[in-house]
Amino acid sequence: MERPETARFEIRMDGLGYEVAGRPVLEGLELRVAARRIGVVGRNGSGKSTLARILAGLIAPTSGQLRLGGIDPCADRRAALRLVGILFQNPEHQIIFPRVGEEIAFGLRQQGLGKAEAQARVAAMLAQFDKRHWQDAPVDALSQGQKHLVCMMAVLAMRPQLLILDEPYAGLDIPTRRQLGRYLRAAAPHLLHISHEPEDLADCERLFWLDRGRIRAEGPAAEILPVFTAEMDRLGELDDIADLAG
Ligand SMILES: Nc1ncnc2c1ncn2[C@@H]1O[C@H](COP(=O)(O)OP(=O)(O)O)[C@@H](O)[C@H]1O
Ligand SMILES: [Mg+2]
Repeated sequence: MERPETARFEIRMDGLGYEVAGRPVLEGLELRVAARRIGVVGRNGSGKSTLARILAGLIAPTSGQLRLGGIDPCADRRAALRLVGILFQNPEHQIIFPRVGEEIAFGLRQQGLGKAEAQARVAAMLAQFDKRHWQDAPVDALSQGQKHLVCMMAVLAMRPQLLILDEPYAGLDIPTRRQLGRYLRAAAPHLLHISHEPEDLADCERLFWLDRGRIRAEGPAAEILPVFTAEMDRLGELDDIADLAG
């Protein structure tokens, strides 16, 4: 039976904000979106990763409200673990176990699966990617691209409704990017892809441009990306590097 939240999985923000030491990182975000592929574009420091962490329920907004399929992911951790998966830019920030099999099993156990069931799902996931021999392999011995694959398998094994990609391709070579990208695009019913690279987001149905913690524009990718790119080109022509000041 279909879970009620799969019927129309809406991300909804009402006046959402996040402040650190009195400084707003995100401010007054109003958003309603139920698209299958959602993009968030913005410069370094515009608040994209903070938004990703709030969506995954890892940190709580300091003002306003967030609902994912009617659920507050920060207040209801169990539901959030079932609904949302997140892939970070750096696998080192994600992986906590020394061996591949343990890493993939961890999220499943957190979701409440029994040991045997989790093990079976780990084995199936490794088999799907032809990596059965990785079960007891030390994560440290893997290349950067292979570590990304471990993170991806760990997230896919949890079968999230919403998969958040926080610039997971940065630093990967082109074939690895394309291979992982192909899997990730088909990996979850809803994908929220964060990037500062317009080309990553060209096929998003809805795109949000985040600028200094606020939504500067939203609409179809084909409409927003050219405006974003033109603005990035314009800023690149300026000699002002005040934005890089600490
Ligand atoms: N816990 C924190 N403490 C201090 N500053 C933070 C914290 N979280 C985010 N920031 C600041 O918020 C801004 C946005 O950061 P981030 O969300 O990582 O942006 P992006 O992912 O778009 O590069 C940055 O200026 C960053 O330094
Ligand atoms: Mg970031």
